[in-house]
Amino acid sequence: MNRKTIRWVIEDPQKKNVFWPSEEMKKRAWVSDESIYEEAKKDPVAWWAKLAKEGIVWFKEWTETYRWDPPFYRWFIGGKLNISYNALDRHINTARRYKAAIIWEPEPVDEQPRTLTYYDLYREVNKFANVLKSLGVKKGDRVGIYLPMIPEVQIAMLACARIGAVHSVVFSAFSGQSLRERMVDAEAKVLITADGYYRRGRLIDLKKNADIGVEGTKIEKVVVVKRAGNEVNMVEGRDYWWHELMEDAEPYCEPEVLDSEDMHFILYTSGTTGKPKGVEHHVGGYAVQAYWTTKWDFDLHDEDLFWCTADIGWITGHTYNCYGPLMNGATILIYEGAPDYPAPDRWWQIIEKYGVTVFYTAPTAIRMLMKYGDEYVKKHDLSSLRILATVGEPINEEAWLWYFNVVGGGRCPIIDTWWQTETGATLINSLPGIGPFIPTVAGRPFPGTSFDILTEDGKSAGIGEGGYLVQKSPFAPGMLRTIYKDPERFKKQYFGVYGEKYYYTSDGAYYYDEMGNIRITGRVDDVMKVAGHRLSTAEVENAITQHPAVVECAVVAAPHDIKGEVPVAFVTLKPGYKASEELEAELKQQVVKVIGPTARPDRIVIVNDLPKTRSGKIMRRILKALIRNEPIGDVTTLMNPESVEALKEKIGYKGS
Ligand code: WTA
Repeated sequence: MNRKTIRWVIEDPQKKNVFWPSEEMKKRAWVSDESIYEEAKKDPVAWWAKLAKEGIVWFKEWTETYRWDPPFYRWFIGGKLNISYNALDRHINTARRYKAAIIWEPEPVDEQPRTLTYYDLYREVNKFANVLKSLGVKKGDRVGIYLPMIPEVQIAMLACARIGAVHSVVFSAFSGQSLRERMVDAEAKVLITADGYYRRGRLIDLKKNADIGVEGTKIEKVVVVKRAGNEVNMVEGRDYWWHELMEDAEPYCEPEVLDSEDMHFILYTSGTTGKPKGVEHHVGGYAVQAYWTTKWDFDLHDEDLFWCTADIGWITGHTYNCYGPLMNGATILIYEGAPDYPAPDRWWQIIEKYGVTVFYTAPTAIRMLMKYGDEYVKKHDLSSLRILATVGEPINEEAWLWYFNVVGGGRCPIIDTWWQTETGATLINSLPGIGPFIPTVAGRPFPGTSFDILTEDGKSAGIGEGGYLVQKSPFAPGMLRTIYKDPERFKKQYFGVYGEKYYYTSDGAYYYDEMGNIRITGRVDDVMKVAGHRLSTAEVENAITQHPAVVECAVVAAPHDIKGEVPVAFVTLKPGYKASEELEAELKQQVVKVIGPTARPDRIVIVNDLPKTRSGKIMRRILKALIRNEPIGDVTTLMNPESVEALKEKIGYKGS
C-alpha cells in the first residue's frame, strides 16, 4: 500500500480537532484497548510487577515489588539487573545483532554519517567499560560526561551502566563553570569530553570549557574524544585520547550485577534556587519505566526508525535517545547541529533521507520551523512518518495544528508527553492506539500511575478548574529516589506542599473532560522553560550579580513567540557605573560565561530602584506583571511605590 494513503488518525465528526486512532493504527499498536487503564488501576503494584517481568531481563527476581516509607519509595527490592545488558547483550544473539542501533548524522553535513549496529555498539561499550576500569572507576563512582551529540555519548553512558558507575551528563552548551559546579557536587572521578564540535558552522572549543570545569574538582582523569580535530591542551598524566585508550582495551567486560535500587545516574536540573539539584535515578525502576513508555508511547516496532531531537544533556536525551529505545532493540537516529542549519529544512531532509517513522521534538522547535514557512516542509516526502510527539513545555494550538497538518499531513497522531527530569520517563500523554489526540491537551496518566489536580485548599479540582498537578502512591517506578546528598531538599521540594502523600510537580493543570484528560498550563514556580531548556531565574540572577557593576538583580520570565519564555533581567548599578548598551551586552555575556548561551537574557533593564516590600524583598510579581503588560495590582504596601512608575516608563508598559 502507498504509505501516503495510510491514515493513522481519524477526526471525531462531532467535535472539531479531536482525533482518534484509525483502524490501521489500532491494528498495529501494542496497546489499543481502553480497558488497560482500568486493569492497571485495580492493582498498580501487580501491574508494574508484570511489566517489569515482561520487559526487562533480571539476573535475579525481586522479593518485594514496592515499598513506601513516606515520602520515600522503592521498587523491585532485591531484584538484580544490568541496564547495559538489557540494551545490548539481550539483542546480540537474536536477529537484531546486525540491526542498526544508532544512525548518526553529523554537522558538518557533508561529513560521512555513521551507523552502529547492535553488535558494533556492544563491542564499543564493552571496550570502553574496560577503559573506565583501567582508569580506576569502580561501582558507585561518579563519571562526568560532557560530550556533543556523537555516538560516543551513548557508548560512554552504557559503559558506565555496565560497570555500575554513576554517570552525570552535562549539556555540552553549558559553560565550564556550570560543569565545574556539577562535578564538584557529584564528586566525579573521571570526565569524558571531546576536543570540539561544530554548531551552525562554528567550532566550539569544548576541551577549553572542560579544562575550566575540571579545576578545583576531584576529577583525576579526563578522556578526550577526537571529534573536531582542533588544537587542544592535553595535560600529561591527566588527559588521555579516547581512541588511544580504546586500542588496547579488552573486548569483553562482564556486566556488573546491580541491585534494583543501586544508583544509575545523577542528572542536574534547575530548581527554584540558584543551585542545580542532582536528581538521582536508580537502576530497576528507571529501566522498567523507560522500557515501557518508549514501547507504548511511540508504539515502537522493529521496523521503526525513531528520532528524538533532544540533546543527551537533558532527561529526554537520556531516556529516549539512549536507554528506552536501545532496551527495546529499536533503531535511533541522532544528529549533531541545529534544526535550521545549513537551511531550515535540515530536519525534513533527514526524515526523508532515512524514512523516519516516529519523530519526537519540542514545541519551541516546531514554532521556529513553522515561522520559516510550509515550503521547507513540503519540499520533502515525509510519508514515512507514523507518529509525531512533543515534550518540554505546553504546546500552543497553532503549533500543534501546524505540526499535525503540515508535518504529519493530517495523518499522524500527536503524542504530547508531559514529564520531568524527576519522573525519569513520560507520565501523562495519550497512547497512539487509544487516543484521543486533542491540541494543547496532554492526555491521561500512563496506566498504573495516578495523579490528581488539587486546588489551593487541597481538594480535587473539577473539570476546567485550575489547580496543581500532584502524583499519588504508588509512585511511578522511574521516579527520582532523592536529590543527591540532599534528602531534606527532596522532602521539602516534592512533598512539602500537600504533605508526604503527594508528589508536588510544580505544574499548573486542569481536567479537560470527563474522561480525565489533563491539560498542563505550565510551571507555577521560578523555573523557566527557555526554548525548552529548564532554567531557574535564580541561576541567572546569580550569574549577573557576579559582575562588578551590579548591586541587585531580579530575573523574570517574559513570554516569547518562539522560545516560549525568555529571561529578562532588572538590574541596579553600583555608584560610578552608568547604564549603556555596552554594559547591557556585557551583562548578557556574563550569563553566557557563567551558565551558557541558552540562558542569555533577552533584555537587560537597568533601573535606579527595584520595587521592594517594607522588609526589603524584591517584588518579582510586580516585575513579571510589568513585563507581561498585565495589571499590577496594589503597590501601596511597597517601600518604594514610585519605582513602579519609573519602571513603567522605562519598559514601555502597555497595561493598565
Ligand atoms: C514542562 C522535560 C506541558 C513542565 C521532560 C515540567 C511540559 C517541566 C510538558 C519539566 C508537556 C514538560 N506539556 N509542559 N508535554 N513536558 N513540561 O525537567 O513544566 O526539563 O515541569 O523535563 O517541563 O522539565 P524537564
